[in-house]
Amino acid sequence: MLKQILLVMGLVVGVLTQHVMANSAALTVVHVEGSEDETIVEDTDGDSPVVLEKFIPTDQWQTVQEGQAIPAGLHVRMNFETGSKEAKLMSDFRHTDDAQGHQYLGQKEFMREELKKAMKNLKATDLDNKDSKPSGEFRSYEELKKDFADMNANIETDAEIIARLLLKLNNSDTPSEELQLTLTDLEYYLHQYDNAILFGDAGGLSVLLGILNKTENMDVLKEAARALGAAISSNPKAQIRSLASGAMEVLLRLMAVSYDTTVQRKLLFAISSQCRHFPYAQKRFVDLGGLSVLQKAFNQPLSDKFKMKAVALIADMLMEKIVTEQNTSPELSTDLEKLRQYKEVDLETLLVDKGWCDRVPELLMSHDHEAREQAIVAMETLAHTCQQTFSKYLVTVRLLNTEYRDMVSDDSGYFQHMVEITDNLLNKVTNKNNGHVTDEL
Ligand SMILES: *[C@@H]1O[C@H](CO)[C@@H](O)[C@H](O)[C@H]1NC(C)=O
Ligand SMILES: *[C@@H]1O[C@H](CO)[C@@H](O)[C@H](O)[C@H]1NC(C)=O
Repeated sequence: MLKQILLVMGLVVGVLTQHVMANSAALTVVHVEGSEDETIVEDTDGDSPVVLEKFIPTDQWQTVQEGQAIPAGLHVRMNFETGSKEAKLMSDFRHTDDAQGHQYLGQKEFMREELKKAMKNLKATDLDNKDSKPSGEFRSYEELKKDFADMNANIETDAEIIARLLLKLNNSDTPSEELQLTLTDLEYYLHQYDNAILFGDAGGLSVLLGILNKTENMDVLKEAARALGAAISSNPKAQIRSLASGAMEVLLRLMAVSYDTTVQRKLLFAISSQCRHFPYAQKRFVDLGGLSVLQKAFNQPLSDKFKMKAVALIADMLMEKIVTEQNTSPELSTDLEKLRQYKEVDLETLLVDKGWCDRVPELLMSHDHEAREQAIVAMETLAHTCQQTFSKYLVTVRLLNTEYRDMVSDDSGYFQHMVEITDNLLNKVTNKNNGHVTDEL
């Protein structure tokens, strides 16, 4: 008795189509986006096939000559009686025969190479011994069921994964390379709010800080800073725990002694995540000399990326304070407490004293539009605090304004946006008398 062979390939994302045919195996060439005109030429044992005349598909099965090119998107099958390959237009491919044969586990992106391989497998099947099970990717329904059962039994919950990773992290015998991989995995899970809290509750943040504090391996350091940043980013509970575990001290000390641009960027990410919307952390940052540490890093020949992030952090902290001052409702004790905490940091005075009014406009000179944009936006926030210093940069801002005006027609709105924000900045900096725009423009 001939065993029915069933091949199924993923035709549409997630759809397993079953197709049973006596004496034949059906293969469907998956249409690959943008490859309409390409043809699939079967590679016979590595020899270049002789290209015969073009195969013209119809809705009837037709024999495909050895080496003949077949257009993509066809239904192709192997006739086991004759050993030849047949093809037709793909039309009615959703057969619903029950699946007692074998299945091919389809993948959504079934590419040409794999198709070729599958066809080779088919050919390799001993035609005289049709009861033998094709090897390789073919799986019986029973086998598949068992595979899935095994898979389900092995599915770890996020909590289990985090516990496992934490165990590795807290083991001083873990080699650096493995530690680095563990941290990369961990970072992925810690983006999830609940996972980060779980990790913190299990003491993970302290372990992470311990690694940051001790490691001399720059790759481990980068990954640890990234994982910490991910854990505390927009996560107030984790932010509090991390600050209480001494994160700001460790991060600023590392930033002060680090000369590797990538390390500095990762550290800045963790510092920013620690500070955002957390006035108490901002106070720690300022009290521990964070502004000077950032400025020292800023003065190195660094990529504009670091400078942009540093400027963004400073402008954001000031903006949070301004917004809190504007929106505080005197009846709400939480609002008042928040305002009190923001007011404990005299950020404005410090920014002026530490020279940030001159640092921020440096980015205007960047060749990168995004860096300039960051500078312009930050300068608008700082306009009141830095008014005196910024008047020195009016010429530069006007030049940029003119430059962007000339480019407005070249793009889909970005340069128009740049014109608007430079206009706003010019207004704000030249607006010395409460809302009165001088006409020195
Ligand atoms: C890390 O390991 C130490 C012992 O080496 C243990 O005392 C501590 O509780 C562990 N911390 C975590 C978070 O597992
Ligand atoms: C970092 O290391 C220093 C000195 O080794 C130590 O005093 C400090 O407690 C450590 N901090 C953290 C958060 O592990």
